[in-house]
Amino acid sequence: MTKRNEQIWDPALRIFHWALAAAVVASWLLGQFGPLDMTLHFWSGYAVAVLIGFRLVWGFVGPRTARFASFLRGPGVVLAYVRSLPARKASHARGHNPLGGWSILAMLGLLIAQIGTGLILDPEDYINVGPLAESVSTEWNRWALGMHHKLGVALLALVVLHLAAILFYRFWKREDLVTPMITGQRR
Ligand code: HEM
Ligand code: HEM
Repeated sequence: MTKRNEQIWDPALRIFHWALAAAVVASWLLGQFGPLDMTLHFWSGYAVAVLIGFRLVWGFVGPRTARFASFLRGPGVVLAYVRSLPARKASHARGHNPLGGWSILAMLGLLIAQIGTGLILDPEDYINVGPLAESVSTEWNRWALGMHHKLGVALLALVVLHLAAILFYRFWKREDLVTPMITGQRR
């Protein structure tokens, strides 16, 4: 029997994914451990913003597997999928599975909030003021500063979960999700 390759991720989505991973890791490391002057952190943050902007558009006009409407499923479908999770077999989802779809939306939402709070925060260090900090009140500057920190921790947790899920699929369900995100194809 010949094995058939099936295209599941289009090239734009794959470039988006790996560029996003690089920009988010850079933003996180520069934010936490970077130089006192955070210009580089700002630029990597803007790169994340551009990528997310693209993804939001692609979620409506991109190919089927990229569309929000195709992978954001109702509670019944999600619950049925969760019940099937422990089974030791591949999910064979033609795109994101019903649970993964929502986790991706959570990741995109968190990144949007991270960018939004970064733009308006003011740490009062006279160096790294968010470019839109002056358009909101001091209370908002301070609130955004606290949130930017908390969301940074939440983002780290979500990325760890993302990688743990991929390992769970690889070793428990014996399903390789990473190769399709590189080549676009699933066997
Ligand atoms: C900070 C790092 C990362 C972020 C923010 C991130 C974010 C995302 C997002 C937003 C998606 C959804 C793709 C879309 O439809 O637009 C996704 C999917 C995916 N990511 Fe990542 N990712 C990161 C790191 C990684 C790494 C290091 C790997 C590989 C080891 C990886 C493997 C995958 C795979 C395999 C999928 C597809 C999952 C599926 O089949 O449903 N990601 N990631
Ligand atoms: C996805 C994108 C981003 C990520 C992952 C991120 C992450 C972080 C992290 C982890 C910190 C250290 C926070 C702490 O521990 O207190 C930080 C600080 C900071 N970020 Fe971001 N950030 C992003 C985008 C932005 C953007 C777009 C801006 C503004 C244009 C920005 C402005 C700042 C500033 C000014 C600080 C310093 C705050 C302080 O002094 O405590 N960030 N960021």
